Amino acid sequence: MAIRLLIDTDPGIDDALALLLAFRSPECSVEAITTVAGNVGVERSTLNAFRILEAAKPSRAPVVGRGADKPLARSLVSAPHVHGDDGLGNLGELREADGSLRYPKPRLALSPLDGPGLILDTIDRFPAELVLVALGPLTNVALALQRDARRMALLRRVVIMGGAVGVPGNVTPAAEFNFYVDPEAAAQVLASGLPVELVPLDVTQSAILPRSVLEQRLAMCPDPLARFITDMTQRGFQFAEEIGEGGITLHDPVALGIALAPSLTHFESLHVAVECEGALTRGVSVADRRAIPVGRKAPATCRVARWLRTDAFLDLFLNRLCPASS
Ligand code: RIB
Ligand code: CA
Repeated sequence: MAIRLLIDTDPGIDDALALLLAFRSPECSVEAITTVAGNVGVERSTLNAFRILEAAKPSRAPVVGRGADKPLARSLVSAPHVHGDDGLGNLGELREADGSLRYPKPRLALSPLDGPGLILDTIDRFPAELVLVALGPLTNVALALQRDARRMALLRRVVIMGGAVGVPGNVTPAAEFNFYVDPEAAAQVLASGLPVELVPLDVTQSAILPRSVLEQRLAMCPDPLARFITDMTQRGFQFAEEIGEGGITLHDPVALGIALAPSLTHFESLHVAVECEGALTRGVSVADRRAIPVGRKAPATCRVARWLRTDAFLDLFLNRLCPASS
């Protein structure tokens, strides 16, 4: 039985790679995509979702719902410096030799439901079976909880890319981007009792994709998708070089990979809460890892991925996206 997924996302180069991984993985079925403001505004993240669908051409296209255009209680902080102004490495500006656009604006066939509404509707279609994979700020998930926590409790798993438990943040010294952008939403989701599997920077930051490795694999991969991946990732590699990293960090593909194959990690049940008040600590994920009797601690709020079988993940990722020509 295929794993039925709803992917909530703010594409975003690494989100796009995670979506392509899902569409190239036979063990899952992407039933719906909900877009959210994060790396870029929600109009752009929604357009990008359709650009990715146009490139991936899944056999059965998921329903797409446009979600929240800003965090629950704050103005949006986006990341064009990482993902390009359009969120996909500015590939919408690329032109062919004859001057035509290489990636013309796709037709947006949107669900009449908004993001939170589509989350709830998809749960109704697949109660106790649906796995929600959240790759951006948790605004849509929190709004769906506010609308109907009883239906949200029918989710089988909630796999979240977010937080930093035992490592520094990536957007401030303490906070990870998705939790920083909407800390109130992250706090509400973690306090909700949903079956959260948290995939923090602790494990995603080890999954680095060097430009040379991707280029080598794409060269072996006779696939029209290869050019889309190449065009989209240029900005990502440029940003990595600017900050002295060895390649694109595959944050969202790691979360998607763990949704498909939990054996890629080991989970630890922990009480994790999110700081919403501090000037320096906004969005910090605070895990209770004190070595005291469990009975003296607050109950766990989630299961936290503690390490990653990085080589096994990278093999999975590359073999799915760039199957070596037989
Ligand atoms: O901190 C990494 C996360 O923030 C990823 O989901 C990336 O796409 C950005 O949304
Ligand atoms: Ca993301």
